[in-house]
Amino acid sequence: VLGGDTPGDLAGRRVVVSAGGTREYLDPVRFLGNRSSGIQGYALASEAARRGAEVTLISANAVQPDPAGVEVVHVETTEQLRDAVVKAALHADSVVMAAAPADFRPTTTSDTKIKKAADGSAPAIELEQNPDILATISHERAHEHQVVVGFAAETGDATGSVLDHAREKLARKGCDLLVVNDVSGGAVFGSPDNEAVILGADGSRVDVPRGTKTALARVVWDQVRERLVGP
Ligand code: CTP
Ligand code: CA
Repeated sequence: VLGGDTPGDLAGRRVVVSAGGTREYLDPVRFLGNRSSGIQGYALASEAARRGAEVTLISANAVQPDPAGVEVVHVETTEQLRDAVVKAALHADSVVMAAAPADFRPTTTSDTKIKKAADGSAPAIELEQNPDILATISHERAHEHQVVVGFAAETGDATGSVLDHAREKLARKGCDLLVVNDVSGGAVFGSPDNEAVILGADGSRVDVPRGTKTALARVVWDQVRERLVGP
């Protein structure tokens, strides 16, 4: 049964979940951001707590109230998210990267507000790449049995299908599970619903039908639970 009722099956486990979208500041009032709402990450954190886990939620700019029974660390930028996730991951049985980290940040951030030029010209923004948190966590595991989960929103294109891109990303990131959303058709951002395929590094594939983000969270933890060692 997908996402069965399993209270207590994560008791004694420590899990880390990241949620939301990071912001990269251009000046004190402006940033580059993305449309991640944080709903999926919050659902994962709440569900893990309900099943008995000790949960640390690293939240990047999500607007929801802190879930009950969960330790929440609030961050803004990808580098802050990386530092918080790496620290919490040291003691974690599982790390789930549901956040959408900005891939790039401005090479410089102005301490003062950037003003418009009188000649009508616009400033150029130079970007540099942010660290890849999921790849870092996966390749430098705190311990051998840690279960690491990534998320990916993909579209098919001329070079391959959604699942082709997802398999390649799973291998490149080095995580154990990748939760894949096909975003070719429409929006998942801010929606309470989700539909996904969960791919395992062991070759497994679980199709999760359209349903709530809580329903998807249940199946994700089922998949994590199967891979945790010990009773
Ligand atoms: N991720 C991360 N650190 C980043 C970027 C992404 O940890 N700097 C994580 C996300 O939290 C997600 C997974 O990697 O779990 C996949 O994110 P995605 O944006 O699809 O991967 P990218 O490597 O950034 O690939 P793309 O060029 O397709 O955006
Ligand atoms: Ca990205």
